[in-house]
Amino acid sequence: MSFPATGYPQLDVLLPRLEAIAALDAKGLQGERIAVLGRKQGALTFALRSLPTFTPDERKRFGALANRLKEAFEAAFAAREAELAGSTDVPAAGGGLDLSMPGRGRWIGALHPVTRVIDEIVAIFRELGFVVAVGPEAETEWLNFGALNFPPDHPAMDMHDTLYLTEGGNRILLRTHTSPVQIRVMQAGPPPYRVVIPGMVYRNDPWDASHAPAFAQIEGLAIDEGIGFVDLKATLTHFARRFFAPDTKVRFRPSYFPFTEPSAELDVECQICHGSGCPACKHTGWMELLGCGMVHPKVLEHCGVDAERYTGWAFGLGPGRTAQQRFDIPDIRLEYGGDMRLLRQLAGQEPL
Ligand code: DAH
Repeated sequence: MSFPATGYPQLDVLLPRLEAIAALDAKGLQGERIAVLGRKQGALTFALRSLPTFTPDERKRFGALANRLKEAFEAAFAAREAELAGSTDVPAAGGGLDLSMPGRGRWIGALHPVTRVIDEIVAIFRELGFVVAVGPEAETEWLNFGALNFPPDHPAMDMHDTLYLTEGGNRILLRTHTSPVQIRVMQAGPPPYRVVIPGMVYRNDPWDASHAPAFAQIEGLAIDEGIGFVDLKATLTHFARRFFAPDTKVRFRPSYFPFTEPSAELDVECQICHGSGCPACKHTGWMELLGCGMVHPKVLEHCGVDAERYTGWAFGLGPGRTAQQRFDIPDIRLEYGGDMRLLRQLAGQEPL
């Protein structure tokens, strides 16, 4: 405990002793208490005895300071005593210090469910030799659409409405998917490629139980000589069973994406009803896990990759939806809304 200098030498000489109290042992504490506050010999008592020698004005100032110093000593002795006794359960001491006040609870954090799902997915693909790549969230129109074989004004772009940050040709926009990072990876060096790409994406989507205008995606890309659709099916089936359970049923449904041909969607057996049908899977018994397909030769050509020699597949997944299934989170806004109570619950703590 410290106390500002008073300007009176007979008081200031005691200040180092006040600070030293925190380091005293039980015996030292007892001796020091008497040496400072003792009624007969105490150093502070002694200093107070000089009071009558001051002028009335000075006496007031000196008296007040000496009394405050005395309170500070009493508080410091009590605090140290409580500390040595291993308890703070002592009545309020002088100096306005309430030593009986309970300590502050500590905040315990938890990894966000979406982060947990991304980490797990990355770990599964890492076992298969994939590495992580990332790209910018402000992306060019060409990489977000053109290079991925979206024809201008194609209806597929209706689902990818976003904020444009610049005007003119090849505008900058908030990326609507992680797929443009496929292009960046391919432009950065020659095949083979085996990458997974996590990141945030942005769309003019409603803020409701199953949509958020800013959400996470994770993309995968595997390009090499001799890769076929059977590799896509085998790898993604392995992934789904590794992520959920070894006996999880999966199915591939034909679909459409401009950057893959053929394209498919991978469904897994609903994790909530296990196939019998429930509101979460709209009574189908299946839930959509990801979109995938064989990379369109046009996309390879846009990146200078020889489409005669190299083939491969890609996928894109929304880990927010996957986390809903994994952690039984009924509303996606709980994930992207930043409500700390969700993390508290996932950390196994009592609700606030
Ligand atoms: N980019 C697509 C989307 O946001 C998802 C996707 C589908 C990514 C198929 C892929 C893919 O890489 O092969 O809806």
